Amino acid sequence: MLKNLKKSDIELYNMINEELDRQRNGIEMIASESFVPLEIMEIQGSILTNKTMEGFPGKRYHAGHQVIDKIETLAIERAKKLFGAEHANIQPHSGSQANQGVYSALIKPGDTILGMKLDHGGHLTHGSPVNFSGKVYNSISYGVNAKTERIDYEEIEKLAKKHKPKIIVAGASSYPRFIDYEKISIIAKNVEAYFLVDMAHVAGLVAAGIHPSPVPYADAVTGTTTKTLAGARGGFILCKNEIAKKINSAVFPGVQGSMHLHIMGAKAYTFKKAMTEEYKSTMKQVAINAKTLAKELDNLGFRIVTGGTDNHIVMVDLRPKKITGKILDEALESVGITVNKNMIPNDPESPMVTSGVRIGTTAMTIKGAKRKEMIEIATLINRVAENIENVKVLENIKGEVKILANRFPLYKGEL
Ligand SMILES: Cc1ncc(COP(=O)(O)O)c(C=O)c1O
Repeated sequence: MLKNLKKSDIELYNMINEELDRQRNGIEMIASESFVPLEIMEIQGSILTNKTMEGFPGKRYHAGHQVIDKIETLAIERAKKLFGAEHANIQPHSGSQANQGVYSALIKPGDTILGMKLDHGGHLTHGSPVNFSGKVYNSISYGVNAKTERIDYEEIEKLAKKHKPKIIVAGASSYPRFIDYEKISIIAKNVEAYFLVDMAHVAGLVAAGIHPSPVPYADAVTGTTTKTLAGARGGFILCKNEIAKKINSAVFPGVQGSMHLHIMGAKAYTFKKAMTEEYKSTMKQVAINAKTLAKELDNLGFRIVTGGTDNHIVMVDLRPKKITGKILDEALESVGITVNKNMIPNDPESPMVTSGVRIGTTAMTIKGAKRKEMIEIATLINRVAENIENVKVLENIKGEVKILANRFPLYKGEL
């Protein structure tokens, strides 16, 4: 795949191969990551990247759009079929831009949005003060119940009645449980707010029927084709026909210019792949693996936030082990296991230190890992946690990580 690059830019070629080695020899447990099929890399590296195109099928600003119209229509139709949606816009360059598109379609700067707190599991784009969403809009946040660590629906209702938001946002980056979309949709209806669900993390599980779908309940649903959908690197929006026109014109010309056509092609493939039985059974395994991992880590003395998981995410409280997220994240990375330090609800530590880590099972499940490997991975994580300063033990674990990773070869041969 990179044979020409090898001849013309050996420096960059070597760096990409270094990263390939890391991906092959490590245990990848970052919850937003996956390993994409070769087809995705082929399409994203295809001649589609040469074309410039703005607008939508049938209404373009550049000539030579006939084939591009067919491909975009294919991607749209597949997204609609996969999720049972009335309308799909597959142009957002990322999940963040999908959310930006929905906000700018439905509300005005200064309007109130009600989303989940970042440190309770929400995403930056749900109203964080460091993000456009918290700067352009008046952001109010809900969180999880201190005891159950599950979303506090009563708090959402209270805040909604008090602040009368124009949009209520559900969806999260580090929340391991199902979200009751119907309940929040009723709260939104009662205060005449739009209901946006950002399913970026769980879109693949939703597509496979492993996770409840927000589509019947939300006015708009955003997502990424990366993460559990395990495909193209980009975003998309699903919505009811009623607001389709507003959504389209908010994305283009509202917040984006020309499309990334190589990514658009890869999105069409992602949606088709997600309809296959093979994909559905992988997603089923992703959720089973997360449950197994949570249970094993719990047995080994970690505290699992909410006591378990319904999706691909395991949130781990490290305080029983007397270490921080930063310390474990770095120690795990040194042996080739990648996770990310993450705030847990009501975390006493700062975001750069944290009391927890977020662990995801998508990438390793796609490689072929099952229950046996989840038990092994939990054991490795625990050995690292208990030997943080023991260089010799960490060196041994590094060797074991490599052996385990190579039981599941990634992209055979030279790429
Ligand atoms: C819930 C949620 N929404 C949106 C995004 C943003 O996606 P992107 O990184 O493609 O902008 C993320 C990314 O982590 C996410 O977790």
